[in-house]
Amino acid sequence: MRCFESLDDWRAARAVLGMTRIGFVPTMGALHAGHASLLARSVAESEYTVLSIYVNPTQFNDAGDLARYPRTLEQDLALAESLGVDAVLLPRYEALYADGYRYRLDEMTFSRTLCGAHRPGHFAGVLTVVMKLLNLVRATRAYFGEKDYQQYLLIRDMCAAFFLDTEIVPCATLREPDGLAMSSRNMLLDTAARALAARFPELLASREGDDKVADQLAAAGFEVDYVHTEGGRRFGAVTVQSADRRVRLIDNLSLHASEVVTP
Ligand code: PAF
Repeated sequence: MRCFESLDDWRAARAVLGMTRIGFVPTMGALHAGHASLLARSVAESEYTVLSIYVNPTQFNDAGDLARYPRTLEQDLALAESLGVDAVLLPRYEALYADGYRYRLDEMTFSRTLCGAHRPGHFAGVLTVVMKLLNLVRATRAYFGEKDYQQYLLIRDMCAAFFLDTEIVPCATLREPDGLAMSSRNMLLDTAARALAARFPELLASREGDDKVADQLAAAGFEVDYVHTEGGRRFGAVTVQSADRRVRLIDNLSLHASEVVTP
């Protein structure tokens, strides 16, 4: 497995790969079993798998959230190596944003709703960094977890809008045995917050209407950003207090079928 901190070095290596069938998994690190499932799928379906680990500052609208985002690089690299990843991109801000974020990619409607309504600028940061990474890797397929379903839809439609050749592959959310969707942010939950967090997917799955579910979540002790059903899928975002910090959790599920996938 080769690690690339320099984008020039990566671009030289990419040129040699030519038409190789590349699978790509972009991440912000703090890898968990959900990421591992994406990587394993890419390794199985591709000739060469690229993982990127980059905590992207432009998608954080809260400096404290960025500072607290978990970073576990050594374990991440060990996991990637054990799964058969071929290359890891570890870019620096100065190289990835040589333009100082003067150029950015924005979407004008769906990105303003749900998480976008609560995190101004978040999806412009996500779409911009993903476009940069997709152009750098030029993968056949790129894999995204369905936990971030709004992100997946926005990236899928961005690729169509800009005629990118990379196929965007959605991958089912992996859950802990109690139903909590796997997320790097779960590492930030203390014991009490972790116990409460399990009620989030449970209440989200209820047959009650969105407003009732939001009330039930608030009564259980969550601060509710939104509960909203659209296209047969219910989306939710809540915040829990964990020791001296607030941790934001998001989730979504199809109301048509049970989609619980445990590792
Ligand atoms: O889902 C994530 O981890 C990030 O939003 C992504 C897609 C890696 C972009 O920074």
